[in-house]
Amino acid sequence: MSHKSDLGTLSVVVVGASGDLAKRKIFPALFALYCQGFLPAELTITGFARSHLSQEEFRARITEHLTCRYTPGEKDCAEKMETFLSHCHYVSGQYGSTDAFLDLFMHLQQFEPHSRTNRLFYLAIPPSVFLDVAKAIGSAGFVYCGETSPWSRVVVEKPFGEDRDSSDELVHELSLVFSEDQTFRIDHYLGKEVIQNLLVLRFANRIFEPLWTKEHIKSVQISWAEQLGVEGRGGYFDQYGIIRDVVQNHLLQILSLVAMEPPARHASGSIRKEKVSVLKSIRPAALEDMVLGQYTTAAEGASPRPGYTDDETVPDDSRTCTYAAALLHIDNPRWEGVPFLLRAGKALDRKTTEIKILFHDLDNCVFCGPEDCPHANELVIRVQPDEAIIFRIMSKVPGLELDMESRDLDLQYDTAFSELIPDAYEDLLLDVIQGEKSLFIGSQELAAAWDIFTPVLQAIDENGVRPLPYPFGSTGPSEAMDLAVKAGGVWRQ
Ligand code: BG6
Repeated sequence: MSHKSDLGTLSVVVVGASGDLAKRKIFPALFALYCQGFLPAELTITGFARSHLSQEEFRARITEHLTCRYTPGEKDCAEKMETFLSHCHYVSGQYGSTDAFLDLFMHLQQFEPHSRTNRLFYLAIPPSVFLDVAKAIGSAGFVYCGETSPWSRVVVEKPFGEDRDSSDELVHELSLVFSEDQTFRIDHYLGKEVIQNLLVLRFANRIFEPLWTKEHIKSVQISWAEQLGVEGRGGYFDQYGIIRDVVQNHLLQILSLVAMEPPARHASGSIRKEKVSVLKSIRPAALEDMVLGQYTTAAEGASPRPGYTDDETVPDDSRTCTYAAALLHIDNPRWEGVPFLLRAGKALDRKTTEIKILFHDLDNCVFCGPEDCPHANELVIRVQPDEAIIFRIMSKVPGLELDMESRDLDLQYDTAFSELIPDAYEDLLLDVIQGEKSLFIGSQELAAAWDIFTPVLQAIDENGVRPLPYPFGSTGPSEAMDLAVKAGGVWRQ
């Protein structure tokens, strides 16, 4: 829950301010919070990056992506933007240089009215430099020891490490500067509106919880697809691949919210405890339960699109996966024997993130004849695009005959709610400012998530596994269908 309570004095430092993430997501989210009155009047926002930019250039750059969605009137919005930009400043310096951060410190002194300023550091920088930056922030004396007012907090973007060991090391090294309480590990999928609705759907409705077990649920499918390829981001992506970029974090986070036991309370400690517990019950992914792919040029006849290794930021002999499907099992009483199928791919035929809960067929149905056995129920939770929750039920078709058809109870967000759907970063940034941690990844959760994929990532490397080719704009490697069949079903479109 958000409260426009006493926010004190706030200084936000966005490290990596000239990058894409800062420009497209962080500054627009800060502006959205500003427009809605969630930021204090005593506010300083400082962009820090290596590029040399004048204040005007910096402000012009961030203005490009600010939107008027919360302040629709043209004049009002222009005024809001102007006052917001007057809080924004830019300082350039080398990442990892204590001197550069000391300069930043001096710069901030001009704007911080007193010493009780809360400080938020957003590290929107590549994983290779974030530890150096965190250490420089610590050495420059920015971090308060205490965890209450005034506070200092750091937001770090994924990926956190490349496997369990490197992640543990990162967690440890970062903890020498920022305590676990001060560290907010972001997974922006947790800020998405429909993902936040998962716990409400499960635990604020009486009907779902009794059905949410192996007795009633046959399988769960979580699908993530993007139409874009790597588009020049190969420098980052080729080092990580789709398992580390999407599956180990976004998809496992979704899975944990779908499969966790009810938390004792709606409080970050209780929620995290149950998420850790279910993640620890997931059997490590096995290579024989995975299908890995890499996109090639678009099929003949389709509009021409380059293959993954045609991208100039990707090495010609890259074996990095741009598609992965995995069959996972949860070894606990609720889910014993229920297959969880996850798939994620770039350069596919659609953009979508969907959760499908597939229920068992009816054991005994009074309507069952040789040809008219009812379809099993299905709950579809569409995270994006076109947010929706759809429950497929059997219904009698109006008329004099007894014909049955599968129909949808359909909650489409755009027609059901008049409210604007906030961007995930708006929600998450507000939570950082308010010190609310339930939508951030705790160190135990992180370790448990890496334990699921570290062995298979090692096996892929050690065996030199080559991903299967699939054409740009297709549905991915056809072998993924065999995986669904192995799990006793088919992928539901
Ligand atoms: C990021 C991944 O975490 O999520 C990207 O690194 C991916 O590869 C992006 O494109 C997708 O985010 P969204 O919010 O557009 O679904």
